[in-house]
Amino acid sequence: MPKAKTAYVCTDCGAEHPKWQGSCAECGAWNTLSEIVLQPAVKSAGAARGGYAGKAAGASQVMPLTEVALTVEARTLTGIGELDRVLGGGLVEGSVVLVGGDPGIGKSTLLLQMLGTLGVQLPSVYVTGEESLAQVASRAQRLGLPLAPLQALAETCIERILEQAAQVRPRVLVIDSIQTIWTELLTAAPGSVSQVRESAARLTRFAKETGTSVFLVGHVTKEGGIAGPRVLEHMVDAVLYFEGESGSRFRVLRAFKNRFGAVNELGVFAMGDKGLREVPNPSAIFLSAHAGPTPGSAVMVTREGTRPLLVEVQALVDQSSLGNPRRVALGLEQNRLAMLLAVLHRHGGVAAYDQDVFINVVGGIRVQETAADLPALLAVLSSLRDRPLPEKTVAFGEVGLSGEIRPVPNGEERLKEAAHHGFRRAIVPKANAPKSGRVGELEVVGVERLGQAIDACR
Ligand code: TYD
Ligand code: MG
Repeated sequence: MPKAKTAYVCTDCGAEHPKWQGSCAECGAWNTLSEIVLQPAVKSAGAARGGYAGKAAGASQVMPLTEVALTVEARTLTGIGELDRVLGGGLVEGSVVLVGGDPGIGKSTLLLQMLGTLGVQLPSVYVTGEESLAQVASRAQRLGLPLAPLQALAETCIERILEQAAQVRPRVLVIDSIQTIWTELLTAAPGSVSQVRESAARLTRFAKETGTSVFLVGHVTKEGGIAGPRVLEHMVDAVLYFEGESGSRFRVLRAFKNRFGAVNELGVFAMGDKGLREVPNPSAIFLSAHAGPTPGSAVMVTREGTRPLLVEVQALVDQSSLGNPRRVALGLEQNRLAMLLAVLHRHGGVAAYDQDVFINVVGGIRVQETAADLPALLAVLSSLRDRPLPEKTVAFGEVGLSGEIRPVPNGEERLKEAAHHGFRRAIVPKANAPKSGRVGELEVVGVERLGQAIDACR
């Protein structure tokens, strides 16, 4: 038997290298190269390369786009509004969606509920590689789903899954989870990079050829990536992440990539004893209930996706006993925090080099936009001085390296949301502030420099 051809893929960025090396030449990450077997991938070149040839796998021709018949992708509403929103307006026929998240966050529950509400409208098969059929059935019953239209399969071998799918012809196929699936073509262990990659490629091809919508459940590694190579993210049409704190009942579903809709769209759910419930109006759930003003707490209006959300940013600044003080950011970007502290020192005249700085976004949600800069800085400052920010104050704005406060998109909408929730004062970039200086009852203070923002908090 000829020796199997292998390559090394970076589990962080998905780059392929012919030889093993300590760090990835593409993204520079250390110890992320993992061996994959290329042999069967060669047979199915299109899918293994991370793309798919579409239905016409034969000869393809160059065509002017004007001659391409425009097809509107067929969408079906899943019946779960928040999920439809994140998917970009419903489920697309033949699409492959990767749903990632920590274990126990509710991925299986959400997808089972989705199949339940789709019911007879779209026949489905739920493939479980982690739980027994009895467990799935009892969960469906406990969730109060109609059992009759639900079909499940306990199987982990991709060949047998596809065989069954070809017979039953479901319109929706859920694979829970992709890490348990393996192919007979490879000798690598299930869950290894080559197995995950090859199985996902086969499922992607199946989806495109049959028009079946496929959902892949993926676990998240400690580092926050979906276990297995990033290649998985390139292969699928949409990547949804399920986020939330284990202690909190709120869960946020976020579109991280979506070929059929906007990214960064958020869907909000609450986990209860009857499974996940939608929270269609989530704007104030990420505020913690303080009895009064507390040092180290700032409220911001973020606009992830298409809805403004009020979110609390907390900071704790404490004398450090380490030579190299700690900077820990949960829910915000770590490097951004280091940068903000440098700006605070240079342009705000406030030093924190001998202090540990911890920062946390309440509710376990992640804020990716730069509008969090100003509230994060104000929270740090408030904790450092042990003085609360003025009551009923919100803030948002990007902080530049020269200490300027830059505008962020959709300022007006954010301000309206803050006014709607009874806030009295908003500290925002000057360009985002209305000329009148008010939005309803909300007094809007427009600032151009960090120093002005600090003054506005007195
Ligand atoms: P699950 O969907 O199994 O998570 P995942 O598939 O992402 O690993 O969710 C399991 C958690 O959800 C578990 O900790 C129990 C909780 N849960 C409820 O609180 N209520 C419910 O109705 C269900 C089904 C689960
Ligand atoms: Mg599960």
